[in-house]
Amino acid sequence: MSLKITVIGTGYLGATHAAAMAELGFEVLGLDVVPEKIALLERGETPMFEPGLEELLRKHVAGIEGSSGRLRFTTDWAEVGAFGDVHFVCVNTPQKHGEYACDMSYVDSAVASLAPHLRGPALVVGKSTVPVGSADRLAAYLAEHAPAGGDAELAWNPEFLREGFAVEDTLHPDRIVVGVRGERAEKLLREVYATPVGEGTPFVVTDFPTAELVKTAANSFLATKISFINAMAEVCEAAGGDVAKLAEAIGHDDRIGRKFLRAGIGFGGGCLPKDIRAFMARAGELGADQALTFLREIDSINMRRRGQMVEMTREALGGGSFLGKRVAVLGATFKPDSDDVRDSPALNVAGQIHLQGGQVTVYDPKGMANARKVFPTLGYADTALDAVRGADAVLHLTEWREFRELDPAALGEATATRLILDGRNALDPELWRRAGWTYRAMGRPTA
Ligand code: UDX
Repeated sequence: MSLKITVIGTGYLGATHAAAMAELGFEVLGLDVVPEKIALLERGETPMFEPGLEELLRKHVAGIEGSSGRLRFTTDWAEVGAFGDVHFVCVNTPQKHGEYACDMSYVDSAVASLAPHLRGPALVVGKSTVPVGSADRLAAYLAEHAPAGGDAELAWNPEFLREGFAVEDTLHPDRIVVGVRGERAEKLLREVYATPVGEGTPFVVTDFPTAELVKTAANSFLATKISFINAMAEVCEAAGGDVAKLAEAIGHDDRIGRKFLRAGIGFGGGCLPKDIRAFMARAGELGADQALTFLREIDSINMRRRGQMVEMTREALGGGSFLGKRVAVLGATFKPDSDDVRDSPALNVAGQIHLQGGQVTVYDPKGMANARKVFPTLGYADTALDAVRGADAVLHLTEWREFRELDPAALGEATATRLILDGRNALDPELWRRAGWTYRAMGRPTA
């Protein structure tokens, strides 16, 4: 008999995981405490934009014509407890207000709500990104509070999906990491992931703390790569070098690799910034803060990129105040192929210029609704062309494909000055210069 799976929390991670589990052939029950979210999912819709996710949901959500019917949703904990052999906890772990530490209240309350309903053998699998030591604590909690006692086991199985590639990353992960204490948990998780493992995905078995640390270590490494190249961009700016060429050249060394070496306004989003901060906070609690002091520098290099972009814009506009200057901003989300504006460097730069008196007009292919909520006082336009109309400077701040495919000649007709500042090093300088634009990018010489 095939395993029955529940997924607790249906945000980016949970909704994608639930749909992917149904795609792998399991019967899946997803739970969320927000009834409006469940109502949307039951129609095969999501509150966020994630390529391919709604299609996958419609393929499996029960009640949708032509679906496999393997995926259902509920708000009822008792139903979840009775249904699942394996329960994936996919709730979010945001940064605490005013602190670096991670807010574990959603994870803790999910496990507390589930525990009384675990009457028989079950495996609870944490997927959320948590401070190391959480799994030990939650395993003890389950043993004490689940009616099944020690038969309600815990495992930790971090998730590495990227927004914009969530479906692809979940169905075809680079690796599967499971932190377990016993053979039964490992066996069950091998069964859950038999398809990707059969296709060659490595399956790494560890203890609890290592599994938790793999996730924060991976995100810290990625953040370090980005801040490293942004530090090189600062040096290139001072020395007249070209950081894009430098990244290409060092990236040819296999040991370094070419990915995650794009200099620009830095990283944002709901993961990298808060994960490195929570990691520092946790290391401090463990008395290992010295080991991670470099992450403070990574964070600080990243945060100052935003201000440097503002200053580069000011200087390109002739220095002085932004008052009376019209600035078009292409991009509001923290990365392309997502509608997520959480800690978005693009929106931060747009906001700083606006707060200093600039007339800012933003356009983003998918992030407009979220951007308007976060920053209602900015100007918004329905198209890139409308945004740049009459602009003194155009800022390219999120590297959507749509912006790479813009026709600089047509856009040039609409602007006042044909001045573009590429905060993502993602446009083709020659293309823009040939169309009469002044093209400037972070860490690259001004032609
Ligand atoms: C990240 C991790 O990649 C993923 O494995 C983890 O599960 C969650 O956190 P995500 O937040 O979706 O995923 O975004 P990612 O693709 O890592 O990009 C993060 C930020 O870094 C974006 O703002 C992006 O624009 C920026 N970035 C990325 C750069 O500035 N330069 C680069 O070279 C790459």
